[in-house]
Formats: sequence, structure tokens, C-alpha cells
Amino acid sequence: MKKIGVIFGMENTFPGALVEKIKAMNADNVTAEFVKLGGVRMAEPSGYAVIVDRISHDIPFYRAYLKNAALTGTVVINNPFWWSADDKFFNYALASKLGVAIPPTVLLPHKQHPPGTTDQSMRNLEYPLNWDEIFDYVGFPAFLKPFDGGGWRDVYKVDSPRDFFWAYDQSRALCMTLQRAVNFTQYFRCYGVGQQHVHIMEYNPRAPFHERYVKQPQPTDPGLINRIRKDSLTLCRALGYDLNTLEFAVEDGIPYAIDFMNPAPDADYNSIGPENFAWIVEHVAQLAVEKALRGENPMKELRWSEFLNAGVAQPTATASKPRTGAKKPVSKKAAGNS
Ligand SMILES: Nc1ncnc2c1ncn2[C@@H]1O[C@H](COP(=O)(O)OP(=O)(O)O)[C@@H](O)[C@H]1O
Ligand SMILES: [Mg+2]
Repeated sequence: MKKIGVIFGMENTFPGALVEKIKAMNADNVTAEFVKLGGVRMAEPSGYAVIVDRISHDIPFYRAYLKNAALTGTVVINNPFWWSADDKFFNYALASKLGVAIPPTVLLPHKQHPPGTTDQSMRNLEYPLNWDEIFDYVGFPAFLKPFDGGGWRDVYKVDSPRDFFWAYDQSRALCMTLQRAVNFTQYFRCYGVGQQHVHIMEYNPRAPFHERYVKQPQPTDPGLINRIRKDSLTLCRALGYDLNTLEFAVEDGIPYAIDFMNPAPDADYNSIGPENFAWIVEHVAQLAVEKALRGENPMKELRWSEFLNAGVAQPTATASKPRTGAKKPVSKKAAGNS
């Protein structure tokens, strides 16, 4: 019997529905359950053909368990090694090289010294930073947000240098990015599953939480939808994520990818609604079953450069110009969520 395990945190709707769906598929010799674990012995097989990981970003013990499970032959969705190495700033840079539109984005030194470090640890840093150059490159309004954040934590919309310095002061020892705000007329949140299937949902980040997934979206230009689908696949394949959400903010017809490192995406029935929920449960169930039946070797994929398109990870002699796709700087009164 091949077992698919689900490891999860506080969420209540998706994990149970996924287990039930997999069981209802009645695939030959495949079953599903919630993972149970205690002390983990090194190199001991986990007993699972596939584990769907919804929570290891919050629980380092689970992340370490999943790496050990991968070593012993378990396929983990998503790959715990790459997820550990990944960050949003790297992803913006990679995406810009792959031709996906990304607003100009700068990585900033920590405002406060990370615990255990002092001035002496920072001798490689310029001081003061050339803020004029940074602000000219990014423009205002802009978003100050963590390089590896999630769930809107520590995200600030800033309209001026003054706003920026106030927000930067709040950012403690986090590593932050400053990104030009997209003055969007539409916003899409997309599930990417198995690096093959994309489910595009119109989303309104300015609405109250429970109304953000637009229930009856207006028809959208098919060219735009195709580009969002193509960009979503490009990003999931380059990053090697089998489950992800990708967020695009559309300005002047260009979908800017602004958030696409969500390897344990929100899949709660109460926020995404019944149709989106049915889609994600079904597609993740199918993916997990396919992987369990295929018996793929998880170790064969564990070389990071293979996740990145050929050539992308190669050093280049000259730095390439950022490809922003922007026609003009966004206007001062750009909308966006603060
Ligand atoms: N460059 C941007 N332009 C416009 N809105 C943005 C931008 N960056 C972030 N936002 C807004 O802030 C929200 C949270 O930022 P996001 O990058 O999605 O981080 P998180 O991982 O916390 O969701 C987005 O849903 C969007 O509404
Ligand atoms: Mg987001």
C-alpha cells in the first residue's frame, strides 16, 4: 500500500478534504492520512510515498523531518530543500531574467542589527546608503516588505521618503525589499499545480478579507489571461514548485508578478469559496496520487541549478538591465493596499 501523508497547522478545511478526496479516488493501492510523527531517526524511511507539506515554514522540526523523509524516498510537495533556500528577492531577480514583468525592486540592509551582531559585523556595508539613487530607481509610491514574508505581515505602502523612513524604522531586524507600487486596475491570484495546471482567480486585495476572491468576475481580455497563465507556468517551473500561488497586479495591460513564493498557499474553504476549493482539492489530490503511483525518485531533482532554466544560474559578464515592462512611472495617487 502506498501512503500519502498530509502535514498541516491551524487550517481546518483543506487537509481533511484532501485526504477524503484521495481516498474517494480509489486509486490502486493508494491511501491517504494525516502524518503522525515523534522523535525522528536519521535515514529511517518515513513510510510515506508522498507528503503534502502545508506548514514546515512555521515549524523547523517538520522541515528537518521532511528533508530526512526525502532522503529516504518520500516525494515532498513542495521540495523542502529548495523552499529552505528560496527568498522573494531572488525570485524577483530570476523572474525579471525570464521575461516576467516585475516592478523595480531593491534589497535593503536590515534596519537593526540581527541578534548577536554589532556595528563590527557590518563593515561590508556602505554607510550612509545612497537613498536618492535607491528612490530614483524604485520610485514612489512603493511597498516596503520582507524578502521572505507572507500573509501581509510587515508590508507597508509608502508615498514619500518620509513615509519610507518611518516604515523602515518599524522593520526591526527583518530583511526588507522596496518595490515600486503597481497602480493596478485588476489583480489576479493563481494556483499553480504540478507545474502544469493554472487556476486564475480574480482577487481584490482592497476589499475586506472575506470578500477578496471576486465572486462574479467581469470577462477579461484573453491575451492577458494567456500571459498570466504562461508567466505562472514559467515561474513554477523555474522554481520547481508543484503547489504555489502567484499574484499579478495589472497596470496598463501588463501583469506584474508581485508575490509568487507561496508554497503552502491559502486553500481555506471559507476564504477561497466553494468552486476554487473544489479545484484545488481535486488537482492536489490528483498530483499526489500521480506522484505516488509513478514512484519518482525525489533525490534526482535535488540539485538547485536544475530548477532554474538553463543559463539562468550562470554568471554573466555584464549585469543586465532590469526588465520591468513599465511604460512610465506609476502616478503619485496610485492605489494599493496599505
Ligand atoms: N508592488 C506592489 N504594487 C501594488 N501592491 C502591492 C505591491 N506589493 C505588495 N502589494 C500589496 O500588498 C499585499 C501584500 O504583499 P505581498 O507581496 O503579496 O506579500 P505577502 O506575501 O505578505 O502576501 C499585496 O496583496 C498587494 O495588495
Ligand atoms: Mg500576497
